[in-house]
Amino acid sequence: WTATRDKSCKLPMPKGSMGFPIIGETCHWFFQGAGFHASRRQKYGNVFKTHLLGRPLIRVTGAENVRKVLMGEHSLVTVDWPQSTSTLLGPNSLANSIGDIHRKRRKIFAKVFSHEALESYLPKIQLVIQENLRVWSSNPEPINVYRESQRLSFHMAVRVLLGFRVSEEEMRSLFQTFQDFVENVFSLPIDLPFSGYRKGIRARDSLQKSIEKAIREKPLHTQGKDYTDALDVLLESAKENNTELTMQELKESTIELIFAAFATTASASTSLIMQLLKHPPVLEKLREELRSCGLLHDGCLCQGELRLDSIVSLKYLDCVIKEVLRLFAPVSGGYRIATQTFELDGVQVPKGWSVMYSIRDTHDTSAVFKDVEAFDPDRFSPERSEDREGRFHYLPFGGGVRSCLGKQLATLFLKLLAVELAGGSRFELATRTFPRLISVPVVHPTDGLRVKFFGLD
Ligand code: HEM
Repeated sequence: WTATRDKSCKLPMPKGSMGFPIIGETCHWFFQGAGFHASRRQKYGNVFKTHLLGRPLIRVTGAENVRKVLMGEHSLVTVDWPQSTSTLLGPNSLANSIGDIHRKRRKIFAKVFSHEALESYLPKIQLVIQENLRVWSSNPEPINVYRESQRLSFHMAVRVLLGFRVSEEEMRSLFQTFQDFVENVFSLPIDLPFSGYRKGIRARDSLQKSIEKAIREKPLHTQGKDYTDALDVLLESAKENNTELTMQELKESTIELIFAAFATTASASTSLIMQLLKHPPVLEKLREELRSCGLLHDGCLCQGELRLDSIVSLKYLDCVIKEVLRLFAPVSGGYRIATQTFELDGVQVPKGWSVMYSIRDTHDTSAVFKDVEAFDPDRFSPERSEDREGRFHYLPFGGGVRSCLGKQLATLFLKLLAVELAGGSRFELATRTFPRLISVPVVHPTDGLRVKFFGLD
């Protein structure tokens, strides 16, 4: 339970508390959420030790410290997810691969998120967003935005990325199983009949079965450049790299992609909607930008096909999405393990210890952002560009060789959602005040955010 210091190193150990035997400070972490790390950081500094999810851990905040961890991949650290995450995602996932195998897998995946591939997903993503917004506005009651955003990002992942044609009922059952999987990806690795870990394993096995069936029934289009979905691109890319993906690899990759996309995009979508509600001038400025680009006429979005380039050219929209991801970074950080003892902020990180670099705390404490707690999209405008100080102050998608592969896709999805919201929807907060936020497993409002959608004006 207590990992030891490296005695050959003169530097002191990081300060911090290891909590109780076996569970360490896991319960404090679940109950305190974001406050857990913030309170310990204030007490012990930017590099402190704790014990979470069954193992000792050094938590790292601050651009310079994070830079050293992320750029030290392969030399100082390597990936090391908690045991539950690692087992549930499987040995063939990117998350569990290291060195040359990781590089090779990333190369195969890169094509899935290329400009050309994104252009081909765009109309389908737009359609899924429009369909879901229509359902939201046809509901006479306020909707739970977080829950509906989870459904939306799941639909996006299953229909657009994977091209699965499943019935509504199958989709509902897949969604439920997937939620069981996600809820237990970060659990204590105790395999008992009613433990979260066991529930996660059962959900994974059931998902793999359904996915295998869907892959076998799926018509594949791997010829030419007219991609239908990411799975087709993945298979084609594997062929180009002289690799055949086994069914087990395909199933694990598929679950990993949905997992990586699901909670993160749902969290960011909810934060986006909440900020647009909180800041009507931002919503108006977005509308203004759409009008000036000819995308919005008489309060209606132009029905013509949107191109990737026109989305990329919307500068204010870009600032809004960046600011949402700065203040409400969905992923709080990433897990690594020290492959040798090294120095960080004057203390030692002993070989064999887990290291978790922090994204949210780094954003929250970065001196480069003026009035750091304010929602101010213009901080990313070309005149101010507060993030130019160095990329490790702003890292919603991580950094280094393990940075987010789906970054462009996630950004495109959020931009398309914002365009639909600003262009054609009317929506109002259905509660008297805005809800509090919790940050585990991703940032989301306590009540999910209750909003009434009225649809097209
Ligand atoms: C990795 C954030 C959406 C696929 C990561 C990492 C972060 C991140 C911080 C790095 C974790 C680490 O350092 O260990 C986000 C956010 C998203 C998002 C904030 C949405 C707003 C997506 C989407 C996909 C995706 C839509 C794909 C469909 C991946 C993959 C990795 C990854 C495959 C692992 C890369 C590797 O290990 O080499 N993401 N992500 N992400 N993300 Fe995302």
